[in-house]
Order: sequence, then C-alpha cells, then structure tokens
Amino acid sequence: MGVKEEYRRKLISIQEAVGMVTSYCSIGVAMAAAAPPGLLGALASRRDEVENVRVFGALLLKEYDFFLDPSMKGHFLLESWFYGAGERKAHDLGTVSLIPSHGRDWGPRKALFDPPDFFWGTACPMDRHGYFSLSLSVGYEKDLISVAKTVILEINPNLPRTYGDTHVHISEVDYIVEHEAPLVEVQPIEPSEEEKAIGQYVAELIEDGSTIQLGIGGIPNAIAKFLMNKKDLGVHTEMFTDGMVDLAEAGVVTGRKKTIWRGKMVGNFALGTKKLYNFVNENLAVEFQPGRVTNDPRVIAKNYKMVSVNTALQIDLTGQVVSESIGHIQYSGTGGQNDTAIGAQMSPGGKSIIALRSTAKNGTISTIVPVLPPGAKVTLLRADVDYVVTEYGVAHLKARSIRERVRQLISIAHPDFREELRREAERLKLW
Ligand code: COA
Repeated sequence: MGVKEEYRRKLISIQEAVGMVTSYCSIGVAMAAAAPPGLLGALASRRDEVENVRVFGALLLKEYDFFLDPSMKGHFLLESWFYGAGERKAHDLGTVSLIPSHGRDWGPRKALFDPPDFFWGTACPMDRHGYFSLSLSVGYEKDLISVAKTVILEINPNLPRTYGDTHVHISEVDYIVEHEAPLVEVQPIEPSEEEKAIGQYVAELIEDGSTIQLGIGGIPNAIAKFLMNKKDLGVHTEMFTDGMVDLAEAGVVTGRKKTIWRGKMVGNFALGTKKLYNFVNENLAVEFQPGRVTNDPRVIAKNYKMVSVNTALQIDLTGQVVSESIGHIQYSGTGGQNDTAIGAQMSPGGKSIIALRSTAKNGTISTIVPVLPPGAKVTLLRADVDYVVTEYGVAHLKARSIRERVRQLISIAHPDFREELRREAERLKLW
C-alpha cells in the first residue's frame, strides 16, 4: 500500500476521534502552539458519556471548555506541566493539576511511568515519503508517541515544516484528522524602562562567541534587543522566540563558535509571532531536538561559554529563586529553568543568570525578600544561581557566602525597600 492510500485509510473525522475516548483513559497532547485545537475543542462534547479522563500537556494557550467549564469536573482532569492563563483560571475549579517536573523529564518520565492511552498532536501535511513534521514542538511529543496505544495527528497546513528530530512516519500514526486553524501567536511586549536597564546589564555579562538560552517571559525576550552589538553568538535553548530571529537576521547569531551543532540554533519548541513561525519553516539552520536532549544539562554543558537567562517572580536574600508560584498559588511551572541554569554552570566559561524587575504590582512590593512567603515554590536552588540582575545592577552570587549574597542582593533591590531588607536581614541573622 502506498503512503497516500495509507493516509486516506487512516483519515477520520474529529468527532470519530474524540468518540474513541473512554472513561478512565489518558490522553497526552502536544504543547503550546503545537496543541491540537480541533481535537481539544471537541473533547467537551463527550462530557456526559465519560468520567475521569486525564489529559496531560503543557501551556495549552487556548481556553478549552473541557477544563474551563465547571461542569466538566469529574469528567476531565487536565494534568499540566506548565500553567498559562487558562490553567491558572481553571485551577480553583479543580479541573487542573500541576505535574511538578523538569523540562528534560517531561517526556521520558511520562513515557516510562504513566504512558498515555492516546497521543493527540499536530503536524503539517505529509510529504511524498510519508513523513509528517511535528512542527512547533518536540518537547515531549515523540516520547509519548513511542508509547501511546493510539496516535492521532491533527493536520494543519498553516504549521511550519521544521527540521531536526521532528519527523513521524505515517506507519507510526493510527489515525489522522484534518483541521485548518490559525496558529496561536504571542506578541512580544515593548520593554519598559526597567526592562531596558536589565537588558543592558545582562548584555554586559554575555561575551562574544557565547551560546545563549533565553527563558520564557517578558524580560528574556526583551534582552535580545540589547545583544545587537555582540558577535558570533549561538543559540541552545528550550524555547525559540522572536528575539532570536532578530538576532539571527542581524547576523549576531551565527553559531560559528558553537562547540556542538555548530552553525545551528537548537531548541525544542517555538512560541511567538508569524515572524518566528516563518523563520523556522524549512530552515536547516534551526534544529528542533526533544526536551530530553536540549534540556539535558550534560548536553547543554558541551557548549563553550553557555549563558542561561531566566526570570523569576521572587528571590530571597540568600538566593533561592521562586519562578512558578506567587505564595501558594501556582503561576506557571518549573520548565527548563533548572536544566538550563545547571547546564550553563557546568559549561566551560558558562554563566547562569536570573533577571527580574526589583518590584512588582506597580512598585508596591519588592521581588527581593528576606524570607519567602508560605507556600512559595523554590524553582531554582540558591546554589544554582551565578548572577541576579535587576534594573539596579548585577549581584554576583557565584562562590559567595550568605553574608555577601545578602549585601549584593540588597544593593540591587529597589531603593525604597533596601532599609527594610537590611533590618530584616539583621533581625533574622542572615549571614
Ligand atoms: N509577587 C506578586 N506578584 C508578582 C510578583 C511577586 N513577587 N512578581 C510578579 N508578579 C505578578 C506580576 O505583577 C504579573 O501580574 P499581572 O499580570 O497581574 O501584572 C504576574 O505576576 C506575571 O509577572 P511577569 O513578570 O509579567 O511574568 P512573565 O510573563 O514575564 O513570566 C515567569 C515570568 C517567572 C512567571 C516565567 O518566566 C516562568 O514561568 N518561569 C519558570 C520557568 C522558566 O523559567 N523556564 C525557563 C525555560 S523556558
């Protein structure tokens, strides 16, 4: 049977696909801009026929009824590696639960310890040899495909064809649905004055010839703008962003000095605007590799002068970094923050950087605090942070004692909070 005939034989409707879902089954779905909107949008229609169906994924970006409609409780549970706005909104309904895990482990651990019954992903149309490209994410998708009992791909002609370890052959797929949909876009926000200052300080820490990772959030994306006068940077990241496209198009990112995947930008998912999606389309300079590879600190550390730049919500005076919760409230997820920070620390000449605004909530609270509030989740251990940057400068934590860390972190806190931080550090004997 030829691949075209096999495709026709496996083609079913979205309703037929969601009709296969049974009570107590589990469905692994592709993440972020690669999540399948046709299948996930139709899932709620099965509410009255099923109970206790688990759907696992990360950062679904769209607000689907199956977890946002309160009447879905008991029928569907979204288990998420990384919360976005929808997951945060649904949390109190009891229809979402976080899976605490490092980005490098999402796929391999799920595949090994809790393999899904179904895998639902997206792909661009099949090529003449019978291959699909999983397009905008291979964070964990291929790990789940290798173990799921039933693999269903939603084909969207708008998805870019990406290269690297992104391909799946028709023989590995059980069913296909076709669903043309616009791609989810996340628009970068113009950096504020504080973010510009942070960008400049971070740029001073990045030497020519470094390989960079920029994490998720406003600040890492803003930083790309301040790297325009660097030479021969490389990219080894988790998430590809619009800022990286600007750096590549300006000739700043060449990958010429990279010590692995020389000349290539390496990452596992892309999230941004059409500009980014056009850039990664059929681009041999962009190498998508699974999270278990891109986020393995041993792999990251093979890059010479690897610099990780991530952001956080809060940091205490000893250097403990809270990036995924506001008190006991889950805000996002661990993602690749540890993977990339530890990989950068292990790299010859590497640096792990946390960049954050010194205040939140319109300047009313300090993000640098003497002690973390109850329920705060430490995303990155204090031993794994080399530099902390705010709009007031750079704190060097690498190899420094608590006494020195406290002094340096207070010096980059907002001036309105420094006296109070000093008093608290003294009272708590933070030295
Ligand atoms: N206390 C209370 N609220 C705070 C706060 C604090 N210390 N710090 C920030 N906030 C609020 C902000 O005011 C903002 O609220 P608003 O939307 O109502 O204005 C909200 O929290 C988000 O803050 P912001 O700084 O805009 O977040 P971001 O979109 O830039 O994302 C992280 C920042 C830290 C949440 C994000 O980077 C993350 O999830 N990191 C963990 C994973 C990771 O780093 N992975 C890296 C590899 S991709």
